[in-house]
Amino acid sequence: MCLATRKLALERIAFKQGRFGVARKLISFSATEHCSNARFEIGKAAQYGVVSFMLNNTLELLLARRSVVANKLGEPGPDSGQLQQILTIAARVPDHKKLNPWRFIIFQGEARKDFGEVLAKAFEASDDDPSPARRETEANRFMRAPIVVAVICHLIEGSVVPEWEQILSTGAACQNLLIAANASGFSAQWITEWYAYDETVCSALGLEGSERVAGFIYIGTGQEQPSERDRPELKDIVTYWNSPIKN
Ligand SMILES: Cc1cc2nc3c(=O)[nH]c(=O)nc-3n(C[C@H](O)[C@H](O)[C@H](O)COP(=O)(O)O)c2cc1C
Repeated sequence: MCLATRKLALERIAFKQGRFGVARKLISFSATEHCSNARFEIGKAAQYGVVSFMLNNTLELLLARRSVVANKLGEPGPDSGQLQQILTIAARVPDHKKLNPWRFIIFQGEARKDFGEVLAKAFEASDDDPSPARRETEANRFMRAPIVVAVICHLIEGSVVPEWEQILSTGAACQNLLIAANASGFSAQWITEWYAYDETVCSALGLEGSERVAGFIYIGTGQEQPSERDRPELKDIVTYWNSPIKN
C-alpha cells in the first residue's frame, strides 16, 4: 500500500474514533500527495476502495456543512501550507472565459489588529456618539478568527462575459473557501457586516475602480458544534419543466 493510501486509511480510522486533530493532519498530507501525483495515487487508492470513501466523505461534508459564527472560531487556524491549498481550491471555480474576476486579501497575526484600528476609526467617523464598548468591538472584529480572507470581486469591464456571471463566479470562490476550510478540518463563516460596504474601509483595503467586497471568510477551529439550521423543503424550491404544447 502506497504512503498516501495508508494515510487515507489512517485518516478514516482517526475520523471514526473522533480524533479530528489527527485526521486533519492526515487529510492535509494525503491531499497534498494526491495533488502532486493525482492520477497515479488515485489509481492506487482505487485498489483499496479509498476513492469511494473519499467521495462519500465529500457528500457527508456537504450534507452536514454548517458555518460556525466568527466569535466561536479559535486557534489553531490553517498553517501556511493549508492556507495555500484552501486558496488554490478557492481559485478553482467555474469562471467563464478565465477572467479571474476575484482576488483574495489575507489577514493574519498582527495585521488583524492593525485592520481593527481601521474599522474602529471608520465606525467612529460614521457614528455621532460611538460608545467605548462599540469601539472595542470594532477594533477586535478581525481578532475573532486566526485567518480572515477578504474576497474581492474584480469585474473585468468590457468583457463579453456579463458582469452577473463574474459576480456569480466570485460567490462560487467564497463557497469553495468555506468548503475547502471545512474539508481541511476547520470551521468558517462568510460575513459582510457593515464594513464590506464602507467607503473608508474599502479604500484601506486598496479596492480600485468597480471592485467590491464579496465577503470576509473567517477561518479557524470551531469552539462549539452549531445546531442544525432549517433548510428549505425541495418541494418548495424545485419544479420540473414540462412542455406546455404537450399539455
Ligand atoms: C454574501 C453573504 C453575506 C453574509 N453576511 C453575513 C453577516 O454579515 N452576518 C451574519 O451573521 N451572517 C452573514 N451571512 C450568513 C452566514 O454566512 C451563514 O450563511 C449563516 O450564518 C448560516 O449558514 P450556514 O448554512 O453556512 O450554516 C452572509 C451570507 C452571505 C452569502
